[in-house]
Amino acid sequence: DPESKLQLVQRHIRAFPDFPKKGILFRDICPILKDPAALTAVIDLFEEHVRKNHQQVDLIVGIDARGFLFGPLLAQRLGVGFVLVRKKGKLPGTTVSVAYDLEYGKAEAEIQEDSVAPGQKILLIDDLLATGGESCIAIMFTGCQAREEVLQKQTCKISNISPY
Ligand code: PRP
Ligand code: MG
Repeated sequence: DPESKLQLVQRHIRAFPDFPKKGILFRDICPILKDPAALTAVIDLFEEHVRKNHQQVDLIVGIDARGFLFGPLLAQRLGVGFVLVRKKGKLPGTTVSVAYDLEYGKAEAEIQEDSVAPGQKILLIDDLLATGGESCIAIMFTGCQAREEVLQKQTCKISNISPY
């Protein structure tokens, strides 16, 4: 049998124990980017997943930094636009920002105020989920159903997200 797309992708994700801190098992997606077949496969899988599970996607929101590597490729496939959630201080114009805790540190994220229009269906993309912290911040900015819960608790349930 030819290797499945998922196997091809899995084969291009490396695990590094104790990076960037002791106790963290770091999943490195760089080998996917270095291999054109693996990169095509991962975007194929994302596209199939979205077309199967989501009737409408108006905009893709990518999370700094590794969400930027996959987001625009998927956006082109789906024929929609791409928007950036960035680390603080990188975006010009009027922005909205939120401070938050990471699995290994603290950060502050920002989005341009006019990035998302009311009622738009957003697809969030990043390289991986660990605690879901980064994804929750992006949800806060983009205002899905979990928004109120996230704002109150500074956390949200992964069940509110539909991870691949
Ligand atoms: C990593 C990864 C995810 C996030 C997952 O990003 O790329 O964005 O952590 O962890 P979480 O679910 O607990 O939030 P990182 O903060 O290392 O930044 P980078 O993408 O800019 O390298
Ligand atoms: Mg990241």
